[in-house]
Amino acid sequence: MIIQPRTRGFICLTAHPDGALQNVKNQIEYVKSKGAIKNGPKKVLVIGASTGFGLSSRIAAAFGSGAATIGVFFEKTASEGKMGTAGWYNSAAFEKEAHEAGLYAKSINGDAFSDEVKKQTIDLIQKDLGQVDLVVYSLASPRRTHPKTGVAHSSVLKPIGKSYTNKTVDFHTGVVSEVTIAPVENDEDISNTIAVMGGEDWKFWIEDMKAAGVLADGVKTVAYSYIGPELTFPIYRNGTIGQAKNDLEATVTVLNNLLKDLNGSSYVSVNKALVTQSSSAIPVVPLYISLLYKVMKAKGTHEGTIEQMQRLFAERLYREDGQIPLDDASRIRIDDWEMASDVQAEVDRLWQETTTENLSKISDIAGYRKEFFNLFGFEVDGIDYEKEANENVPIPSIAS
Ligand code: NAI
Repeated sequence: MIIQPRTRGFICLTAHPDGALQNVKNQIEYVKSKGAIKNGPKKVLVIGASTGFGLSSRIAAAFGSGAATIGVFFEKTASEGKMGTAGWYNSAAFEKEAHEAGLYAKSINGDAFSDEVKKQTIDLIQKDLGQVDLVVYSLASPRRTHPKTGVAHSSVLKPIGKSYTNKTVDFHTGVVSEVTIAPVENDEDISNTIAVMGGEDWKFWIEDMKAAGVLADGVKTVAYSYIGPELTFPIYRNGTIGQAKNDLEATVTVLNNLLKDLNGSSYVSVNKALVTQSSSAIPVVPLYISLLYKVMKAKGTHEGTIEQMQRLFAERLYREDGQIPLDDASRIRIDDWEMASDVQAEVDRLWQETTTENLSKISDIAGYRKEFFNLFGFEVDGIDYEKEANENVPIPSIAS
């Protein structure tokens, strides 16, 4: 079928398999161009492996370090006449490329929050790999059904205490407007967001995996967080999602205790703000990212998810001297270039000036838009979108 983008707000309802394949190939080429990650991981589980930081983590591990990878994600299956989601096509592309390179790669498509998917994953590790030496936790989801209580929790993106007013942009139209977001009405909004995006599920995974004996001696586990600039604090770091990130970061201590007898360690890496399906849903953030991209591209320090994950692996988690630099709160900071004072000062200055009229000049809104469509396999260089595409692309390990 001919596949064109169809959007509703910050969601793209369609995805292009050939564009997804090209995206994955581009990420693989980048990782290869950086050379081997010495002492990198060899057997890796990535939870949330189909898009964004999780996909790039999988690619960095496989093509930077020759790792066998198992990826867990929740995507719509492609079939004859029915398009899959971008994450489905990305994973099909990843497995194809990994297998061609002689690398083990299998995937599990299902709800990672459930006990069933945890068990299915552990069974697969036991059968095929025995143990894993790295567990990447990169889920981003608006809801979670709790596996023990059966309660369905939905997260919200709201400020706490008082309403928040700031500029925002509709990145499709380029219209800059002022948005006011009302604060949470009750503590339940906060506890639900923590239940979805906090650290409990990460802990459940590590507990179950340890009990099943599938964590190798010296195992590492990493989850991703975000801090960002003061201008987004009310909606991000001091808002409901920030409370969930505090909970995720506090889980590191719990997991370090749990992993002590395996000589294992757990980390949170604070990553850079990037265009992903999740970040485009947060008000105000797309405008910040558009300005940030403009400034970082001009300085030559811009990175996408693959550059971030390659650097996280090579220069933090698997540094040759074995010393992982941490901040005062024991977090890895791979958002260091985003948070550099000269970058932030410039973004702040541009933020005050931004209007609908000057947006395309002073921000990288065009780059934002292109990256948004790229996430779904569209506007990828070298792809002919007028041509018939085969929507029925299987993920080899799932099809068999
Ligand atoms: P994303 O939306 O690109 O990826 C989310 C992944 O989770 C996908 O693989 C999806 O299939 C999977 N997933 C969602 N619900 C699932 C479920 N129930 N079961 C199994 N898989 C499920 O998200 P992104 O942006 O890569 O986020 C990953 C992590 O990185 C999150 O913790 C996020 O807060 C964090 N982060 C994101 C930043 C950004 O700017 N995008 C910046 C810093 C951190």
